[in-house]
Amino acid sequence: MRVLVVGNGAREDALSWRLAQSPSCEAIFAAPGNAGTATRGDNWNVAATDGKALVERCRDERIDLVVLGPETAVAAGVGDRLREAGIAVFGPNRSAGRLESSKVFAKRFMERHGVPSARFVVAHSHDAAKKALDDWNGAVVVKADGLAAGKGVVVVPDVDSARAVLGEWYSGNKLPGGGSDVLLEEKLEGREVSVFALADGRAMVPLSAACDYKRAGDGDTGPNTGGMGAYSPPRGFPDDMYDRVRERILAPVLRGLLAEGESYVGVLYCGLMWTKDGPYVIEFNARFGDPETQVLVPRIGGDFALLLKSAAEGAMDLSHATFSPQSCVGVVLATGDYPRSSTPLTGLAGDVSLGEGCHAFWGGSRRHGDAVDVSGGRVLTVTALGDDLAAARSRAYDAVKSLASRLGTDALTYRRDIAANL
Ligand code: AMP
Ligand code: GLY
Repeated sequence: MRVLVVGNGAREDALSWRLAQSPSCEAIFAAPGNAGTATRGDNWNVAATDGKALVERCRDERIDLVVLGPETAVAAGVGDRLREAGIAVFGPNRSAGRLESSKVFAKRFMERHGVPSARFVVAHSHDAAKKALDDWNGAVVVKADGLAAGKGVVVVPDVDSARAVLGEWYSGNKLPGGGSDVLLEEKLEGREVSVFALADGRAMVPLSAACDYKRAGDGDTGPNTGGMGAYSPPRGFPDDMYDRVRERILAPVLRGLLAEGESYVGVLYCGLMWTKDGPYVIEFNARFGDPETQVLVPRIGGDFALLLKSAAEGAMDLSHATFSPQSCVGVVLATGDYPRSSTPLTGLAGDVSLGEGCHAFWGGSRRHGDAVDVSGGRVLTVTALGDDLAAARSRAYDAVKSLASRLGTDALTYRRDIAANL
C-alpha cells in the first residue's frame, strides 16, 4: 500500500521509518515531512493542517492510508476531510479529537462518564479564576484550555503562586494556546505513565506504554516541555496495569464516546497518574506521543502499516500488534533555548545513521544535499534498544555522544537522566 504520514516532527520520522519497513508498504510519503522522512520517500510541500490540499494530493498519488501525526492536524479536521473523500485515515475526526484539543471538554467528558481524574474547576475569566481560589487548599495545577504544545500547564505549591500565574497569563491576553478559559485542578500524587490505546471506532485496546520526561532539566526541574526523553516499557507499575487501564479508563471512555455519537479511530494517548488508588487520567491526547513514539516503534513487530490500516477501516487486526520484550530508551537533543524559544540552526551534518538497534529521528528540519537545517527546539531523538533498561540507556547515551560530535554544532543540550534511577 501507499502510505502518507502527516506532520514534520521526530514522531513522524519514527512512524515513517517503521511504516516503511512493513511488508505491506510499497511507498511512503510525508506532508510536510522532515530531513528523516525525505530519505524514504517524497516530502510534499503541503501543511499538516491543509485538509483540502491533502485530499487532492492523496487522490493524485493514490494513497491507501493516511496516518495523522500532530494534534494540529486532528484539530483542523484533516481526518474529517480525508474520510469524506473516502480515504482511509488513522487519526480521529475533529469532534472526537476534542478529548485533546479542549481540556475543558475532556474533563467534563470524564466527569459525565465516570473516568477517574483530578477534581477541577473551570473559570472563564481572571475574576472567576481568582474567586475559585478563595477556598482552595494546598497545591494547584493551573491549565490553559486549548492546544499549547505542552506549555500550558503550571503546577504550583499554593494559592498565592497560582494567583501569580493567572495574573501573568491574563494581563495582556497571554494565555498559552490563545484561549480565554483556565482549569484549576487538584494535584494528583503518584507516578506518571502514558498508555497508548488503539481504537477502530468500535473497540479500544491498550497497545503499549511508555514513560516520558516532560521537564526541561535533569531531576525534573525547569519548565514543562513537549518531552525531553522517554523509555518503554515502563518500570515499576503493577503487572495487571493494562487490565486496570482497560476496565477503569478505556471501557468508560469507549462507552461515553459511543453514547455521545462519536467514533474514535486512531491512538488515544492516556496520560495517567498511577496513584495509591490506581490510575487517574491527567490528560488525553488524540494521537501518538512525541517522544514516546520514538521508543515504541523500535519495539513493534508485525506489519505496522496493516495494523493501522485495519484500524482505519474499522476492524483492527491485533495479530500485527506484537511488541519485543526489549527495552527502548530515547533522548531528545534540543536547542538550549527550548522551550522558551527555538533558535534555527543551519548546515548540520545530515548523516545521523547509528549502529544496529540505535536510531536518530529528526524533528522539524529540511535536507539539502548532505546538510540539514533545523527549525530549533527539539532537533533529534536518539533511541536505542537493549535487553534491559540499563543496557538500552547506556547504548542511547553512547549514541548521543557519538552523534553530538558528528553533527557540527555545539548548540544542542539534552537531559542526562533519562531512564536513570529507576
Ligand atoms: P498535561 O498537559 O495536562 O499533561 O500536563 C502536563 C504535566 O503537568 C503532566 O504531565 C503532569 O506532570 C502535570 N500535571 C498536570 N495535571 C496534573 C494534576 N492534576 N496533578 C499532578 N500533576 C499534573
Ligand atoms: N510527550 C507528550 C506528548 O506527546 O504530548
